[in-house]
Amino acid sequence: MADPVVVTDDGAVRIIRMNRPEKKNALTLAMYAAMTSALREAEASEAIRCVMLAGSTGAFCAGNDIADFLAAADGGLDLRVLDFLYALARGRTPLVAAVDGVAVGIGTTMLLHCDHVVASSNAVLSTPFTKLGLVPEAASSLLAPLRMGHARAFAMLVMGRPFSAAEAKDSGLVNTVVDAGAADSAGLKAAHEIAGLPPGAVALARRLMRGRIDDVIAQIDTEAMHFKERLQSNEARAAFTAFLTRKK
Ligand code: COA
Repeated sequence: MADPVVVTDDGAVRIIRMNRPEKKNALTLAMYAAMTSALREAEASEAIRCVMLAGSTGAFCAGNDIADFLAAADGGLDLRVLDFLYALARGRTPLVAAVDGVAVGIGTTMLLHCDHVVASSNAVLSTPFTKLGLVPEAASSLLAPLRMGHARAFAMLVMGRPFSAAEAKDSGLVNTVVDAGAADSAGLKAAHEIAGLPPGAVALARRLMRGRIDDVIAQIDTEAMHFKERLQSNEARAAFTAFLTRKK
């Protein structure tokens, strides 16, 4: 079976590719762990100066695996998810994302931790948290209103409205919209541009711009506390079961 997360280095750029296309790159616990390791390794390497997060054609990431959500409703939230969120929030290596197709849940909220986002014209970003009986995660309840303003963040995070690539660009979530299938190459170009800058200055400028990381971590923890409760709610269990038993 193909590796569900493929890590490759292209010069000073590390590409972390979600590679479970048959499930639209829905993230399993093993995938979170592999992505966290790849981020931490990049952090420890002087040679890597930028990381690009990427998915497959037509699917950046369909969010957390819903079968895992259902398992977590009984067994509790797995620390591998939180570790990934901490690695995203605390990491010092600049992050680029190349989004083609669907980006759902964590597939969208991870973009709020990225420094530069390229999306294909067919990208659709959505966070159907409340429809699943859940609450926002990954500090999105803090970062999305800051990035997009309250009204747009509410439409996305609470109303679950999908945003097209163009709407995401208007909202400040996405830097550039490119033709379908061109996000990877455009993202890689931007990543190499960042990697080619003086690393000390980039690291300092980035740290200055990212504000108080402790606040971001505290928001991740507060959201996780509520998320854990919501996972066990009847609203959430019913939504997960409906998805997993739907007829196509
Ligand atoms: N968890 C588990 N499986 C998922 C999944 C997820 N988050 N997202 C997609 N899949 C699976 C589907 O069940 C399907 O599996 P199957 O072929 O064995 O039936 C396969 O991936 C392809 O998905 P499908 O729904 O047929 O593709 P689509 O193009 O019609 O729709 C999505 C794509 C992403 C819009 C749709 O799959 C979806 O809404 N997924 C759930 C997203 C979600 O709610 N994530 C959690 C956010 S908090």
